[in-house]
Amino acid sequence: MTSKELRDNFLKFFEKNGHAIVPSSSLLPADPSVLFTTAGMQQFKQYFLGEKSPYGDKVASCQKCFRTSDIEEVGDERHLTFFEMLGNFSFGGYGKEKAIKLAKDFLDSINIKINYVTVFGGDRDIPKDEESAKIWGKLGFSEANGNLRFEGRKDNFWGPTGEEGPCGPTTEIYVHGIEIWNLVFNEYYQDKDKKFTPLKQKGVDTGMGLERLAMVSGGKANIFETDLFSPIISELRSLASKLEAKLLSSDEKAERIIADHIKGAVFLISEGIAPSNVERGYILRRILRRAIRYGNVLGLAEHNLIALAKKVLEIYKDVYPEIAAREADILTAIQNEEEKFKKTLNEGLRQFEKGLDAFELYTTYGFPIELTLELAKEKGIQINIEEFNKKFKEHQEISRAGAEKKFKGGLADHSEKTTKYHTATHLLLAAMREILGPEIYQKGSNITAERLRFDFNYPQRLSEGQVEKIGNLVNRKIKEDIAVEMIEIPKSEALKIAKISFDPAKYGEIVKVYKINDFSIELCGGPHVKRTGELGHFKIIKEESSGAGIRRIRAILE
Ligand code: SER
Repeated sequence: MTSKELRDNFLKFFEKNGHAIVPSSSLLPADPSVLFTTAGMQQFKQYFLGEKSPYGDKVASCQKCFRTSDIEEVGDERHLTFFEMLGNFSFGGYGKEKAIKLAKDFLDSINIKINYVTVFGGDRDIPKDEESAKIWGKLGFSEANGNLRFEGRKDNFWGPTGEEGPCGPTTEIYVHGIEIWNLVFNEYYQDKDKKFTPLKQKGVDTGMGLERLAMVSGGKANIFETDLFSPIISELRSLASKLEAKLLSSDEKAERIIADHIKGAVFLISEGIAPSNVERGYILRRILRRAIRYGNVLGLAEHNLIALAKKVLEIYKDVYPEIAAREADILTAIQNEEEKFKKTLNEGLRQFEKGLDAFELYTTYGFPIELTLELAKEKGIQINIEEFNKKFKEHQEISRAGAEKKFKGGLADHSEKTTKYHTATHLLLAAMREILGPEIYQKGSNITAERLRFDFNYPQRLSEGQVEKIGNLVNRKIKEDIAVEMIEIPKSEALKIAKISFDPAKYGEIVKVYKINDFSIELCGGPHVKRTGELGHFKIIKEESSGAGIRRIRAILE
């Protein structure tokens, strides 16, 4: 069966069994706490939590996914960054018995024989999944038969995506020794503090990698031999001068990495992402540059990646018309990045050999750290990764937000007390906006472990009554013990909802927004306390002038 037939058969099978077929969602999820869509269930997350699904309580999809968690594994038989996930989902519609039966029936219908299955064995928080084991038992799978194994939390428990959400025990189906299908029983909600609460409505969330299914269904030794990859690999082989001579096993790994990464790049660019040094753009740059470098290893000529990208488009253009629609953008972006990188690659390699440090290679020559690490491994050189990470983090913070930098400059340290003053500053500004008017802005902020100092625009001295009202409002919000929430969202979205105190151009594309109900919504780098109740009593101790049209408040927490 071709991958197209497998995809179609899957959806048809579940449609026949009462599921609504829902198109793949974007690779960029609505949930701001995750960078990419990594699973089919993400677009349905809210329906697992009880919100009514417009598609009914049973759905199936083929979802575009992108995961960086397996990037180191790419090159073996079965790991990828971009892949398609076939899934059926139920939001209170059916439970374990039907989910397991449907999976077995579908695999039977395409003549795939299950090797063995795994079931959650239980731990301190969550009991052993006896029910699933019993259902499998009726289908001939049991510990006694040697085709059912119990596994722990690491292997047979899934979720949540992002910081919190639905999650639960899984049962996983293995064919020819590889996991092809993961059936998740969403029975719990895991909150930010990793606490589990049973969900009122039980859910089913399954995911099966189409590439792996195509591999086992076609009896192939690896996913790169399936029709989802073979046109790319063939093109690569005809282009790569090195491969004409002799294929080394390390070259095979290089081929696979190039094929995977070029595919991932095509899909990421089709979503409007451009290579850059932060967040999603950095991931894109990282996979593109890695593909280019492995291309060099195999002797690919300049612009050969474009030919490979065209193969990706051919494979998927009928399934995902959105990539065909952006063909020109995709090819241009790849070509531009190739040119940019080629310019610096050789010089960077020279500097690397001279011993230039990993962070300098990153900032000056655009070498992703993974590239430097790979080069170092090839040459037997040690890289101080901790030092790099430290510098890299600082760098990202600086490029992300001038505001963050200013705030950090104003912070003596990140101790508990200064964190409290930081949150108190947000409450103070919000209170002033309510009492004095929405046009109040931050003109300066300085925080120590003893007090906060805050400068703002206002034409005259505040009256005693105004000072009192502001203080009372802050204290009321502290008493309400409101949760301080942080979301990371694109800047354009943030500017619609949040107040900003600095030039928006200084912020990166993805920004942090701290929310204290709707009372205070600010772009800010943090850190903040978890709840306003932690602040204690707020007291304004001084109100004075700090220049023309600028007033200054000093306040303490006691
Ligand atoms: N959410 C699960 C996974 O990603 C099953 O779909 O594996």
